[in-house]
Amino acid sequence: MMITIDGVAASGKSTVASGVARALGVPYVSSGLLYRAAALSGLEAGLPLSDARALLAQLGQVPVRLEAHPEGNRVWIGGVERTADLHASEVDAGVSTVAGHPEIRRWVDSQLQALPAPFVAEGRDMGTNVFPAAPVKFYLTASPRVRALRRAQERPEEASAIEAALIERDRQDSRQIVPAADATVLDTSDLSAQEVIDRILKAVAA
Ligand code: CDP
Repeated sequence: MMITIDGVAASGKSTVASGVARALGVPYVSSGLLYRAAALSGLEAGLPLSDARALLAQLGQVPVRLEAHPEGNRVWIGGVERTADLHASEVDAGVSTVAGHPEIRRWVDSQLQALPAPFVAEGRDMGTNVFPAAPVKFYLTASPRVRALRRAQERPEEASAIEAALIERDRQDSRQIVPAADATVLDTSDLSAQEVIDRILKAVAA
């Protein structure tokens, strides 16, 4: 059964998606990593991230490959594994611009739709645009402060700088971030990752 987990930046989507996927014995797919790979590829080629045509040409020349596993996703750019580089702050800062191009969104969507179902799909528009027929859809939120503190555990930057960057990315992403009408919206500010995973598994079993 397809499950979609969407939500704002650093709302815990990947951790939760991985936990749900492991419990069900299926892969999870992080769509954000494909947007991040497109941004990194463009940045390293020296392209202006506002230039959708140049980005698309770059993606045609230097292939991006995502491998989905229940424990995590790995991404190769031009045959080199770059997973660890996809969360650099330069990528954080540029990815929303890249994700704003309809051409790039179609590039991501076609890669996702080519993957063998079922899996847990995680991102911003999985339940709305990419897998609208999924029977279980969740949308995760949390306060900016809680999200910044969570991400500060994974990043070298200060929580206050992370919080400002998250709020800015939310603003830029707000065009493509709308919960699906049939998604369960869950504020995870006061929930542990395991509590969120358990709620989703309950909905899957229902
Ligand atoms: O985990 P976090 O929310 O920080 O990032 P992510 O899920 O890796 O997504 C990175 C960026 O990709 C987002 O800020 C969006 O600009 C874009 N994105 C999107 O537009 N649509 C998706 N389905 C997934 C990500």
